[in-house]
Amino acid sequence: MGEKVVHLETNSVQAALAVFVVSVSFIAPFFAVTALLHRRWGGKLPEEPPPDTATTPAAGPAAARAPAASSKMRLLLHAWVVVVAIIAAAPKLSRVQPLDPVDTSASLTGHTVVITGGTSGIGLEAAKDFAGRGARVIVTGRSQARASAAAAGLPGASALGMALDLTVPASVEAFAAGFLGEFKPTDLSVLVLNAGMVYGPDYAGPYSNTAFPGGAVDTMIAANHLGHFLLLQRLMGCIRASGTRVVLVSSISHHLATVADTLAVHRSPSTPSFTDGVALGKAGLAGARDMFSLYGTTKLMNVLTANKLNRLLRADTTAGTADAVPATRPATAVVATPGFAATSIGVSNRAAGAFNPIEYLPLAFSAAEGGAVLVAAAAVDPPLAEGKVLQPYWIWERVPLLQGAARGAFFNFFQEFFCQKLTRGLYAHAQSDAGRDEAAQDAMWAWSSAAAVG
Ligand SMILES: NC(=O)c1ccc[n+]([C@@H]2O[C@H](COP(=O)([O-])OP(=O)(O)OC[C@H]3O[C@@H](n4cnc5c(N)ncnc54)[C@H](OP(=O)(O)O)[C@@H]3O)[C@@H](O)[C@H]2O)c1
Repeated sequence: MGEKVVHLETNSVQAALAVFVVSVSFIAPFFAVTALLHRRWGGKLPEEPPPDTATTPAAGPAAARAPAASSKMRLLLHAWVVVVAIIAAAPKLSRVQPLDPVDTSASLTGHTVVITGGTSGIGLEAAKDFAGRGARVIVTGRSQARASAAAAGLPGASALGMALDLTVPASVEAFAAGFLGEFKPTDLSVLVLNAGMVYGPDYAGPYSNTAFPGGAVDTMIAANHLGHFLLLQRLMGCIRASGTRVVLVSSISHHLATVADTLAVHRSPSTPSFTDGVALGKAGLAGARDMFSLYGTTKLMNVLTANKLNRLLRADTTAGTADAVPATRPATAVVATPGFAATSIGVSNRAAGAFNPIEYLPLAFSAAEGGAVLVAAAAVDPPLAEGKVLQPYWIWERVPLLQGAARGAFFNFFQEFFCQKLTRGLYAHAQSDAGRDEAAQDAMWAWSSAAAVG
């Protein structure tokens, strides 16, 4: 509460910007719908009376148009209310109903939970819940200082902050070695692969990452996928032996990505691909479009990784080759998204009090609401989450006429950005067709092994 007030009081430019953002986020959907309806009717309403020029000659054409215009606005306003009511009611009529509340009250005393990106946003909020229930929580961030500070702020006395920069393979190796040196191989109850980033307005590069053995990759791919993939490889024995619940934090944006785009990361250098840093040199709309497209691609990589991981873990169990130390439950992977949440995503300046426009958007969930989805994902029954994304709002899965990226855009920009709060609840919605494509999962896993492990 205090932080927002401080922003508004200390800088009038920021306050003006915040008011603008708030206004636009309420008004834009209204005008989008009214403009569509207006165009549909060709600018005429069925009951619009013809202007009676004979009785009002002196008033002129402007006065004659006024009643028609106001009745038009009234009708459009009613139409908007009806649209909102339909959206709010849609989940009740849908095949996909909210999950029964997932029990997240169990004591976690004696359990160890690792959360990557636990220094801010939804990761930090989830860490508070796990630590509050007695878990030994390890939170990571790129800097040791931020990770230690986050751990120090968690309830209980056993939280630990560890440095982990997912764009630096040596940092991933050091973290994994540190963890395996400190904890028993059966200790890892929950691993939340949450850290992530998106190029925001103040991101100044680098866009290309050359630290991984497989050659150059885009920094966003390194941060959102490849670093986590390497970490998974290093902790695989521990995951099997502990029966770890692995939570992969993806996004509704994964619906925007195609298999072809996602696999283009390993085409030859002469083929335009994401390996060169798509945002380089691109400003304005083209840059924003490419940035979002790349973000969606990295989030599809998370879904592909989760599904392949589940297939590998299942194969272990059926072949009886699970780790020599049997876990009390089989390891499983679950995909989750916090919805559109007010965090520091897209903000490079992580200094306390730095201006972050998302904090002012009334349409965004709070970081705590987003973090609660991660907590539920750590406890949900695996069959409920298989092939699904755990998310805090409803989407119209079978929206007609929209396929592929167009459907993804509808989910992302309309259902999440504008409507998520109207249909809140915990839902297990189907992953995109691309995410469930087993050939794509195999290809992505093979490419990632070569790129991250060499
Ligand atoms: N917020 C949303 O609307 C939204 C929607 C869908 C999905 N998500 C996903 O939610 C996850 C968490 O994001 P958030 O919204 O909570 O954002 P956030 O507040 O910016 O938190 C991101 C976390 O990731 C860490 N991080 C960033 N870059 C890293 C790197 N290269 N290596 C290691 N750690 C890194 C940050 O730690 P340091 O800065 O201390 O290094 C921070 O703890 C992301 O995977 C994001 O894609 C968010």
